[in-house]
Amino acid sequence: MLDKDKVLEALARVNDPELHRSLTDLKMVRDVQIRGGKAEVTIALTVPNCPLKDQIESDVRVAIAALPGVEQVFVHLTAMTDEERKALFGEPKEGAAAQYNHVNRVVAVMSGKGGVGKSLVTGLLATALAREGYRVGVLDADITGPSIPMLFGLQGPVEPGPVGIRPLQSQTGIKVISMNFLLASEDQPVIWRGPLIGKAITQLWGDVMWGDLDYLLVDLPPGTSDASLTTMQSLPVNGIVMVTTPQSLAAMVVRKAVHMAQAVKIPILGVVENMAYFVCPDTGKQHFIFGPSHAGEVALTAGAPLLAQLPIAPQVAACCDAGEIESVTLAEIPALLKAFIQAMPVTERRPT
Ligand SMILES: Nc1ncnc2c1ncn2[C@@H]1O[C@H](COP(=O)(O)OP(=O)(O)OP(=O)(O)O)[C@@H](O)[C@H]1O
Ligand SMILES: [Mg+2]
Repeated sequence: MLDKDKVLEALARVNDPELHRSLTDLKMVRDVQIRGGKAEVTIALTVPNCPLKDQIESDVRVAIAALPGVEQVFVHLTAMTDEERKALFGEPKEGAAAQYNHVNRVVAVMSGKGGVGKSLVTGLLATALAREGYRVGVLDADITGPSIPMLFGLQGPVEPGPVGIRPLQSQTGIKVISMNFLLASEDQPVIWRGPLIGKAITQLWGDVMWGDLDYLLVDLPPGTSDASLTTMQSLPVNGIVMVTTPQSLAAMVVRKAVHMAQAVKIPILGVVENMAYFVCPDTGKQHFIFGPSHAGEVALTAGAPLLAQLPIAPQVAACCDAGEIESVTLAEIPALLKAFIQAMPVTERRPT
């Protein structure tokens, strides 16, 4: 005979997909009514308009429908009040989201130099990984000059979740966070100095509900400043991808970044040389616009493989400007992805 306890037992086996705790444990079950074979339940979402509401509703429906004697299931959704949320999760505090996140690998994309294509490489790698079915996030650690929102065509604001802010989702499901999503206006400059920038980066890690990720790629600002150091010291970075271009200056400055990575003892997974050459559309001939490659020397200094040499491609620039990085197709990308995955350390350092 169907009764309330059986429904509650079934709901105790349904987990909130983000918080990985059961709905009963999270005190989300508000009401259960049984009339004959009809079960009617009310579930309080942790926040109004929770983006996971359809999944939660469907999981509840499936769990109850599987009980013997159930003929009809009605699911009503409501939302917790601020007080109820506080009673459950405590006062909002810094870093609270981190305990609910499961990020397997954190990879920072770095270069000593500006404008070499760090954000591009971050976006291309994220897209390639997502296409392969990996769960991917991108943390834009370029607080004062964020370009990730533009590349993915994303705009804030972000929505609060029960224990932190929710990242935005790109067209192909990549979770993205950038300081720009938290500003009142996209054009508003962030004029902070080092310590505040460092704090903002650690907050984009610990106060964001990343959920379960296979890869979190961190797009670093140019240079070897506080922001890069904070990222490497306060985030559980497993490895670094170094981006360079064929210019001698780039190679020289990138070597500084290599030494910084070595000083903080984070492995360099590989080197990507961007803008390596240009293929003339009329003749198909390769032109080395920035001169001969220095990628081999940089890779040698880094003690890491050369993952790819990417061409200067008008299609790339056009897609970046249009917020369509996920549509970029370059012949080099599959090999880049393969080399990147191979370069990942076997022993995964799990976030603390
Ligand atoms: N291989 C390429 N082909 C064509 N355009 C490119 C290529 N790489 C980069 N670009 C263009 O150059 C711009 C700058 O690249 P990107 O923002 O990735 O550099 P960055 O190193 O992240 O710069 P910053 O130091 O400012 O963060 C891109 O938006 C894109 O338009
Ligand atoms: Mg950038």
